[in-house]
Amino acid sequence: MGSWEVLVTRRLPAAGMSLIEERCRVRLWEEDRPIPRENLLAMASGVEGIVCLLSDPIGAEAMEAAGPGLKVVSTMAVGYDNIDLAEAARRGILVGNTPGVLTEATADLTWALILSAGRRIVEGDRMVREGRFNGWGPTLLVGADFHGKTMGIVGLGRIGSAVARRARGFDMNILYSNRRRLPPDKERELGAAFVSVDELCREADFISLHCPLNPESRHLINRERIALMKPNAYLINVARGPVVDEPALVEALKEKRIAGAAFDVYEKEPELAPGLAELDNAVLAPHLGSASIETRDQMAMMTAKNLLAALEGRLPPWCVNPEVKK
Ligand code: DGY
Repeated sequence: MGSWEVLVTRRLPAAGMSLIEERCRVRLWEEDRPIPRENLLAMASGVEGIVCLLSDPIGAEAMEAAGPGLKVVSTMAVGYDNIDLAEAARRGILVGNTPGVLTEATADLTWALILSAGRRIVEGDRMVREGRFNGWGPTLLVGADFHGKTMGIVGLGRIGSAVARRARGFDMNILYSNRRRLPPDKERELGAAFVSVDELCREADFISLHCPLNPESRHLINRERIALMKPNAYLINVARGPVVDEPALVEALKEKRIAGAAFDVYEKEPELAPGLAELDNAVLAPHLGSASIETRDQMAMMTAKNLLAALEGRLPPWCVNPEVKK
C-alpha cells in the first residue's frame, strides 16, 4: 500500500493495475460499467490522482469534488475529449493519455469493419446461424470490391495513416482531408491526395473517420455531407460518435441512399440512435478499436506511469498539457 490516495474508475489490465496498487491507496470502481456521476463525485473526494476512461466526464465538477490536492488525471485512452483541459489548466492539474501504442490495433479494427461492411460478413453470419443459408447463390449477399476503389480518410494522423498504409495493400486510391495539409513527402509516402471534406464525401467509396472530437469536428459528417455521398459509399466511424449526425445517417441507410456503414463508436455511447439496430446495412461494434491484449496491456502501463510520474512531481511521460508544469 502506497502513500497517494487515487480513484480508479475501472479495473485496468493487471500490469498497470498492480503498478498503481503497489504505490497508491486505490479507491476502485469495481463494477464493469461506467461509474455513475454521483459515485464518481463521492469517490473522488480528497484524491490526488484520478485514473479514468473515455466514458468518464472529468470536468469542473469532478475536479472540484476531488479538491485542491488533485494533481493528475490519467486516462486509459488516446482521446481526451471527456476531460476539460481548460479547467485542468486553471487548477494546475496534469493530464496524461496513451498515444501511439493503439495505432496499429485501431487501424486493424477499422479494416475489420471496412471488410465486414463491404463484404456483408455480419449479415452472412446471421443468415448461417439462423438456418437461412440454402447453399451458394449467384446473387447471395454480393458486396463491394476494394481494389481500384477510393478510400477517403478524414484525419490523417497516426491512426488515419496506418489505415492508409493498409489501403495501399488493397490497391486503393487514397484521398484525405485534415485540419492541416501534410508535407509533400508524407503525402507521397502514403500515396494520399489532399481534398476538402465535401470533395472527399463526393468522391470516396469508403469514408473512414479518424479525427479527434472537438468543436470543429462535432457533426462534421452532417445531413448535407451525407447527401453528397455516392449510393455505393460506405461510412466507417472509429473516431468518436458525435463526429457523425447519427439520426441523419440512420435515415440515409434506411432509405439506401448510401450502401452501408460500420460503427465502433456512437453519438450517445453506449446508446444507439433509434432505428440503427434494425438496419442490415450497418455493422455495429462495441468500441473495440484498441482491444487487443498487447495494446490494452501497454495502455494500462502508460496510464499507470503517467499517474505515478505526476504524483512524484515529474511530468507524465505522455502528457497532453505539459505547460501546466511550468
Ligand atoms: C481511445 O483510446 O481514445 C479509444 O477510443 C479507446 O481505445
